[in-house]
Amino acid sequence: MRNRLYLVKFGGSLITDKTKPYTPRIDIIRRLVDEVKEGISMGFRIIVGHGGGSFPHVSASKYRTHLGFVDKDSRYGMAKVHYDAAKLNGIVVSEFLEAGLNAFSIQPSAIFIVRDGEVEDIFIGIIEHLLDYRMIPVVYGDVVIDLEKGCHIMSTEEVFKGLSLHLLEDYDINIIMCEIVDGIYTKDPFKFSDAEFIPIIDQGNIDEVRGYLSVSHGIDVTGGMRHKVDILFELAKHGINSIIINGLIEDNLRRVLLGEDVRGTRIKY
Ligand code: IPE
Repeated sequence: MRNRLYLVKFGGSLITDKTKPYTPRIDIIRRLVDEVKEGISMGFRIIVGHGGGSFPHVSASKYRTHLGFVDKDSRYGMAKVHYDAAKLNGIVVSEFLEAGLNAFSIQPSAIFIVRDGEVEDIFIGIIEHLLDYRMIPVVYGDVVIDLEKGCHIMSTEEVFKGLSLHLLEDYDINIIMCEIVDGIYTKDPFKFSDAEFIPIIDQGNIDEVRGYLSVSHGIDVTGGMRHKVDILFELAKHGINSIIINGLIEDNLRRVLLGEDVRGTRIKY
């Protein structure tokens, strides 16, 4: 039997204050770390990934890093975005260490090379060894080398995809996405009171859901959600199930790890 492996994302909007550049929400990071600790004590293998939130997004938009190398400042921008993303990673990892957990930072840019955003090369061995050592690899949204565009902003979801497709043979993988909403809605729930919650996304409604999410009401909530759903649905085709939950609600993550029923959007095939 394959071992169970959880990939847990701490959303960037959840662990930073998006309205204030470079502002972590330490209390939330600490609580999520404690909840992960329970999963570890159950003997699960866990990879944690986190978004960048208000750390790399400022420099990324200033230097238009998502477009690749576009002008003479792009290389400096790439370096700055990389530094800013790593800064938040340092904060997250230090909270894991405080909690006595064997968290080990892995820079996605040091293990992935992509071509036009698609993984061309990956050095998966480090992650496999860390999991064998019963350590917690901590990855994050990073800027990586792109053989076509110069550089590419690789979101945590893309990192999860790259990792899972290479770990699938050995592990039974489940993804838990901790965000600031309960899951996917028919409209942006922050703006529309008639937004309806979607508990399950599968073959039966994926096209309909894509339709809801393409009518984007904001980069972070719905635009971002479309990207997440597309990747998670693709992974579902490989038997990797996901759930998007509200990480602002205490114990949600812990309960999912313990196999309890939690409100969230489940993505399966
Ligand atoms: C963004 O990563 C990383 C950079 C801008 C370098 P994510 O896409 O995973 O982050 P959030 O969750 O949207 O903040």
